[in-house]
Formats: sequence, structure tokens, C-alpha cells
Amino acid sequence: MKEKPIIILNGGSVFRILEKNDLAAKVYRYVIEAPDVAKKAKAGQFVILRLYNDGERIPITLADWNAAKGTITLYVQAVGKTTIMMSMMKAGDSLADVVGPLGIPSHVEKGQPQAEKTFVAVGGGFGIAAIHPIVRAHKLIGNKTISIIGARTKELMIMENEMRAISDDVRIATDDGSYGTKGFVTTILKSMLENHEPMDVVLAIGPVVMMKAVTDLTRPYGVQTLVSLNPIMMDGTGMCGACRVVVGDKLQFACVDGPEFDAHQVDFALLVARQKMYSPQEKISMELFNKICEAQEHRETAAW
Ligand SMILES: Cc1cc2nc3c(=O)[nH]c(=O)nc-3n(C[C@H](O)[C@H](O)[C@H](O)COP(=O)(O)OP(=O)(O)OC[C@H]3O[C@@H](n4cnc5c(N)ncnc54)[C@H](O)[C@@H]3O)c2cc1C
Ligand code: FES
Repeated sequence: MKEKPIIILNGGSVFRILEKNDLAAKVYRYVIEAPDVAKKAKAGQFVILRLYNDGERIPITLADWNAAKGTITLYVQAVGKTTIMMSMMKAGDSLADVVGPLGIPSHVEKGQPQAEKTFVAVGGGFGIAAIHPIVRAHKLIGNKTISIIGARTKELMIMENEMRAISDDVRIATDDGSYGTKGFVTTILKSMLENHEPMDVVLAIGPVVMMKAVTDLTRPYGVQTLVSLNPIMMDGTGMCGACRVVVGDKLQFACVDGPEFDAHQVDFALLVARQKMYSPQEKISMELFNKICEAQEHRETAAW
């Protein structure tokens, strides 16, 4: 398939993309030069980046970082204009800016008193990349880690090897049954709960529908459950109010009070409604972008 042309490139040397890999299901892995972020990054935090000056600010979770090399690793799923534009960038291109690390790091502690804690992480889509550093942090302090990861088919699964390297147990679900359990990540979690497998904390990161399903499953069992919320964000500093969510009847800003919250207290209906707030504008923006791409392709064909 012919690649769409990249519209905007930044020629600067900061925030340079050092590596880019195309993974399954329109997910892209980037290793980016961002030494100040890499120095301070902690599990559960995110960055807000712009591809070009005046571009949209998009929040992306820190999947990994290397303070010595001054790099951060991000996994980005191409879902709309900005993430599709980012998917067209390649190693050597630069982002306009990367702000972070933002958000409160995950609370990682050993079971009390000094007992091993069983930490169950559930990831779907880019959520697999997002649970990665948190699972690793739990493993490093000696907790038992179980990772449940899912995809539509075997070919669309990402980061299986990386998750195996840091988990005591990895359980896999595919919608079509082509790998692991047939069904969703919640199919696996449901059977673990029904079989009374020990678990102290469950963390779910991914699409809201998945996080809500996990929350509904664990509620009757009283298992402590955390979700990393992904509302629309702009400034990432608690000033603009774009990311407000309601948790236990309290108004919270996901960028500074989260992104992790007690799942059983989250108002998911409000989160879904607020996520869709700009859908008409997002659609227009995507259509305009496609038109620009088409025009540029025509110009290139004419030049040949
Ligand atoms: C804390 C946090 C961490 C995230 N981590 C990742 C990650 O690691 N990898 C990844 O692929 N995605 C991640 N996301 C989601 C990512 O930010 C959105 O997919 C992206 O902003 C979509 O922009 P777009 O222009 O491509 O799509 P659009 O067409 O503009 O939007 C598509 C959908 O993405 C959401 N969205 C749009 N703009 C924003 C915004 N400024 N902030 C948040 N959501 C938005 C909306 O629900 C919208 O309906 C994260 C979101 C949050 C809040
Ligand atoms: S993104 Fe503006 S307050 Fe959170």
C-alpha cells in the first residue's frame, strides 16, 4: 500500500525519534530522545507531546525509559488525525515538544508485613504498553505479578515477550481464539475470580469499556481495583479543566490527581460522555487532513 506523505517535519535535534517500529493493529513503537523526562520518569506517568508548533497536545503513557541514554519509549495507537500523522513520522524526524513526566506515579508497595502481594495487571490495546512499567516495578520489589493481555487475533498481539520478561505469569486472550483463551481479557479475569485465585490488587488500562467491565467484575468480590483514566487532556497541569472526572462524588483532574484512581468510585458514564465531546470536530479535522494528503499525493504524481 502506498504510504501517505508526511505533511510536517521538524528539523531540530531535540525530541528526535531514534527508533520507530510498526507493530500490529496500527500500534507504533517510538524511542525518543528526551533526557530530562527520562531522568525523572516513574511507572504510571505520561507525557504530553506535540508533533509541530501549534499542533494538538496529546497525552501518551511512558512505556519505558533509559536515564543513561536519555531516551523514552512510547507506544502509540493511530486512531485520529494527530496519532495518524505521528504514525507517518520515521526515525530521524523530531517532535516539537515532549512535556513530562506528568501525573502521580503508581503506588507500588510490598504486601504487609513483608508478605508477597499478588498484583494482577489487565491490558488491552496501548494499555499493554501502559501496564508494562508498573508490572515491572511490582516485580522488582518482590510482588507476584500476573499480566492478562488481549488482542483481537494472535497477529495483533503486542509486547508478549516484554510482558513475559517481567511477569510471573502471562495469560493471553484473543477474541477469535487464535491464541490463548478465546474471548476477552475479562473472560480470564472472571474465571480467576470465580476460582478464588489469590489477588490483592487489580489494575486495568485500556479502552474505557474494558476498564469498566473489569471494575464491574471485581466489585462483588471486593478486590481493590485501579484504573488509569484517559480523558481528553490539554495542558496537563490542572489549569484547563479538560480532564475532569468524577471519582466518588469528588471532582478530580486526571492529569494532576491521577491518572490512576479507585475503579469502584469512578463515574464511567461521565468519562465516556466527555471523551466524545469533540467527536464532530475530530471528524472534520480528519477529513481535512485526508484532503490535504490527497492533494499532496496528486502534486507528487504530477511532478513525476
Ligand atoms: C493519560 C493518558 C495516557 C494515554 N496514553 C496513551 C498511549 O500510551 N498510547 C496511545 O496510543 N494513546 C494514549 N492515550 C490516548 C491518546 O492521547 C489519544 O488516542 C490521542 O490524543 C488521540 O488524538 P488524535 O488526534 O489521534 O485522535 P482524535 O480523532 O482527535 O481523537 C480520537 C479519540 O481520542 C481521544 N482524544 C482526542 N484528543 C485527546 C487528547 N488531547 N487527550 C486525550 N484523549 C484525546 C478522544 O476520546 C477521541 O474521541 C492516552 C490518553 C491519556 C489521557
Ligand atoms: S489537562 Fe488541563 S486540567 Fe488536566
